[in-house]
Amino acid sequence: LNNNFSTTPTNNNSIQNITVYGSGLMGAGIVQVAAQNGFKVTMVDIEQAFIEKGKKIIDASLSRIAKKQFKDDENSQKSFIETTWSNIKTETNSEKGAENTDLIIEAIVENLETKQNLFKKLDKISKPNTIFASNTSSLPISEISKITERQDKFAGLHFFNPVPQMKLVEIIKNDQTSEDTYQKLVDVTKRMKKTPVTCKDTPGFIVNRLLVPYLMEAVRLAERGEATTEDIDTAMKLGAGMPMGPFELSDFVGLDTLKSIVDGWRKDGKIDAGLVAPIKKLDDLVKEGKLGRKSGAGFYTY
Ligand code: CAA
Ligand code: NAD
Repeated sequence: LNNNFSTTPTNNNSIQNITVYGSGLMGAGIVQVAAQNGFKVTMVDIEQAFIEKGKKIIDASLSRIAKKQFKDDENSQKSFIETTWSNIKTETNSEKGAENTDLIIEAIVENLETKQNLFKKLDKISKPNTIFASNTSSLPISEISKITERQDKFAGLHFFNPVPQMKLVEIIKNDQTSEDTYQKLVDVTKRMKKTPVTCKDTPGFIVNRLLVPYLMEAVRLAERGEATTEDIDTAMKLGAGMPMGPFELSDFVGLDTLKSIVDGWRKDGKIDAGLVAPIKKLDDLVKEGKLGRKSGAGFYTY
């Protein structure tokens, strides 16, 4: 960690300094991938305990990648890890995190009001040309960005879990996102060795619009007693070539996140009601705090 690298202002108009709000599953991954690719990154969360959790996620992933990339060359493994950490600093002071940064990526809890409150505060203190991006799974970018004075510099920048491994990033423009902002975000994703796709500001964008209804249908199938969760997972891995079955994947993504997505879509009313009908099993698990891997239990126990 290098808590005092100075985020020197970038004179050319490319993005160099990135601040990520949220050091959870996704935020930590985004920080890591940006730092690995030479960006200067500030990781911000509300409590040091959450920062520490994020650092652990990054640590585990970096050592996996180091071992894979530099097999038995321990020196190269060590310098790869140290160089990446030297590009990261952490902050629990939300305002300080926004100082002199070129791009803010928000990866906090999937709640519209919480995201709007954060961006409203940051809009007042950030440099005029700082670009804002949300990693939201499903909330309308137009709804998040409308409370700022910089909708032309606001877009969705949607990474996938686990961020170090999944190559895709969805870029979502609101109706005021400028071409300059869009091109800068395409450039950032490519410098992070990701492949960008673009989608309109519609519920779930591309992947989640197709994936989340599939995950929910799996729960309904089990709830009807037609097959066990284990057999459904096995079936989709061996029969449809999925790397994870739907229940394994739901536990991996986080049942709170999935519930927020489906509840949000139901409220929105833009998606066929059958696809987003409440699911008792999912609601019960989230109520019991069983959020999947991140809480030690979900559909399965970890
Ligand atoms: N950091 C670095 N590398 C990682 C990693 C991490 N966190 N997780 C996995 N990997 C790498 C491993 O090093 C391994 O690399 P090699 O193949 O080169 O050896 C590879 O990924 C496979 O990992 P494992 O062998 O440990 O295990 P696996 O084969 O089961 O793969 C997985 C794990 C990559 C997660 C795979 O199961 C998978 O792709 N699952 C589906 C994930 C998915 O669908 N994600 C999208 C969810 S939806 C979303 O994210 C959007 C939203 O808004 C909710
Ligand atoms: P998470 O619960 O693992 O992490 C959220 C983090 O945000 C927590 O550490 C929390 O302390 C922090 N936070 C909350 N309010 C904050 C604030 N005001 N300022 C700074 N930090 C704050 O959640 P996650 O799974 O990483 O999801 C984060 C976002 O990414 C959500 O919008 C989610 O929909 C989206 N997303 C999730 C996945 C996934 O598979 N989990 C994939 C793609 C996108």
